[in-house]
Amino acid sequence: MESRIEQRTRTMIIDNLDGDEPLSNLSANRDFDQVLQARISRRGVLKGGLGASIAMLFGDAAHAGVGADSSAKAMAPAAAGAASKLGFTPVPISSADDVTVPPGYRTQVLAPWGTPLAGGDADAAFDPTRIGAADQAQRVGSHHDGMHFFPIEGQDPFHGSSSDGLLVMNHEYVEPRFMHAAAIGQALTRGAVPALIDGKRPADEVMKELNGHGVSILRIQRQPDGAWDVVADSRNRRITGLTPMEMAGPARGCDLLKTRYSPNGARTRGTLNNCAHGVTPWNTYLTCEENWAGYFVNRGSRPREQWRYGVSTASARYAWDLADNGADDYVRFDVAATAAQASEDYRNEPNTFGWVVEIDPFKPDSTPVKRTALGRFAHEGVVFQPAVEGKPVVCYSGDDARNEYIYKFVSAQPFHKATAGGHLLDHGTLYVAKFNDDGGGEWLPLVWGQGLLRPQPINQVEDPDCSCFQSQADVLVNTRLAADRVGATKMDRPEWGAVDPATGLVYFTLTNNTSRKQADAANPRANSRWGHILRWKEANDAAALRFEWDIFLLSGPTEDSEFNGAKLDAKQIHNSPDGLWFDRDGRLWIQTDSSESAMNSGDYAQFGNNQMLACDPVSKDLRRFLTGPLGQEITGVVSTPDGKTLFVNVQHPGATTSKEQFAAGQLTGTWPNQGRYPRSATVVITREDGGVVGG
Ligand code: FEO
Ligand code: CA
Ligand code: CA
Ligand code: CA
Repeated sequence: MESRIEQRTRTMIIDNLDGDEPLSNLSANRDFDQVLQARISRRGVLKGGLGASIAMLFGDAAHAGVGADSSAKAMAPAAAGAASKLGFTPVPISSADDVTVPPGYRTQVLAPWGTPLAGGDADAAFDPTRIGAADQAQRVGSHHDGMHFFPIEGQDPFHGSSSDGLLVMNHEYVEPRFMHAAAIGQALTRGAVPALIDGKRPADEVMKELNGHGVSILRIQRQPDGAWDVVADSRNRRITGLTPMEMAGPARGCDLLKTRYSPNGARTRGTLNNCAHGVTPWNTYLTCEENWAGYFVNRGSRPREQWRYGVSTASARYAWDLADNGADDYVRFDVAATAAQASEDYRNEPNTFGWVVEIDPFKPDSTPVKRTALGRFAHEGVVFQPAVEGKPVVCYSGDDARNEYIYKFVSAQPFHKATAGGHLLDHGTLYVAKFNDDGGGEWLPLVWGQGLLRPQPINQVEDPDCSCFQSQADVLVNTRLAADRVGATKMDRPEWGAVDPATGLVYFTLTNNTSRKQADAANPRANSRWGHILRWKEANDAAALRFEWDIFLLSGPTEDSEFNGAKLDAKQIHNSPDGLWFDRDGRLWIQTDSSESAMNSGDYAQFGNNQMLACDPVSKDLRRFLTGPLGQEITGVVSTPDGKTLFVNVQHPGATTSKEQFAAGQLTGTWPNQGRYPRSATVVITREDGGVVGG
């Protein structure tokens, strides 16, 4: 008999690399590039090229207000000439395996993957392959992403202590080759998993990977010497891919949510691929399920709620369905229909993913709740307009896949601070954005029974599989198809959004989209490699059905970029904007996620490692603030209420290590512990003079 280790060296299954951004929008809806091109054409400003066109567009929008009514104009930023809110010396690009910040700033690594929930310093001798499968659920997960600092008072998400709080963060995915002793010495890419010769996966490795996903809740405190530590607390907690969760909202209990685990469609297990996040006005955390589709496989015939999201017919990302103990926790990732009815198999398991999940970090015994009224798609994050007493709650969420959409939710009930809670997210209207050629936009309601969202096909030639909806639950489970149906605008991978607290303007990153078809040969960005940031202004109040939009920033190298009427210079160039956040003073922080398959090579080399910039949208100042180590993306940013401590996440350091280099033990990046396996971690940034970070 061969040992299991020997068997593992015989075969390797699943080499899914990034496993994200499936292309599955088959609708005829127009691409955003077509809209942008059409808008530019209408204004007759093509002579100067796309860059000049963009300058004109955001120039008149930013200062004059492009909205049709006075209240919209009142939301526009102040006139130019204002002093810059940025007070630091920009840093150059970097390809070093380290974090760089401006002179006068200091950094500290906090809570790297594997940190015990009870606290303890980052261990320089730590070996993550020795963490047990169950133990991983008692330690910080991998691949840090969106996060929030909740002041310890637990009253308000943005006010309270600036030295003591709960740091709550997402763990988007894992890199199996850095997790398992059996991987050492094998030629594994960053997406590959080692398997047994019969194609199965050891169940302990599967459990460890599931426990590396999810969310961490960590009490952190600033110590007398200024350093921050994770400290023991009854609220310290891990949410993982196995944690029981409630379904809530219109889809709870519907036939499409019934599984063998939950025959009444009310519960599920776990949250996966938690990318960016949201913070509710009632002081809870929202974690967003992004590229969940890749975790499932259906080797049979996929229903529309699977193919429209890119569930594979060949293999699941980590092959958890092939765990060698056949446990119910793992076989659920094989979602072929095998039983007489849905409540006896896992054909509907993927329908319990793709949601926004609410977690109360101050109640360690609470069950996370998936809020189905916000729709089911590849949720990048969710961002709220400031809550106004007596007005509906309004939030926005992007669907980060190529050619997908941007959504808005408006609660049915008004916000009252005294009674506000998650129930406000269970009743309301979900809208999808349509960007019109003239700079206007519409929020199209996804309400069953209204317009085209009805049980009957629209006409005889339409495919009923795509165009018929039987209930609001059906609309929500099939949010993408409903959005196709009403004519939403296909976008270049919507990532994070941010709402300017002073103006209510909503900014969104569109990271890139090389699949975008060329609508017009003259459009230099039909194949969008660098990405851009757009923004919009609601027509009157946040719940408006119309808006005015504008391009804020065209990312890219100097020769193919645009900001405030000029090309980006050496202190500004970047590509693939992703993370986005407004601090308390109105600085817009922009984080980049250039793919690890491209970074530091070819014409991506000019950007160096992924980075974070700060922008003052009023004075039109933009400067690079931070560069990260090798192989990572910078994602997740939040400050303490006083603005004097900034937390930034470094995700997937060392991911650029090739399979040959991995086999030889020659890692390209080993941050934060030189010479060891790389680990995602939080970077704590402060000013040596104790001032506000960025100011
Ligand atoms: Fe997880 Fe779209 O970034
Ligand atoms: Ca992202
Ligand atoms: Ca990423
Ligand atoms: Ca990204």
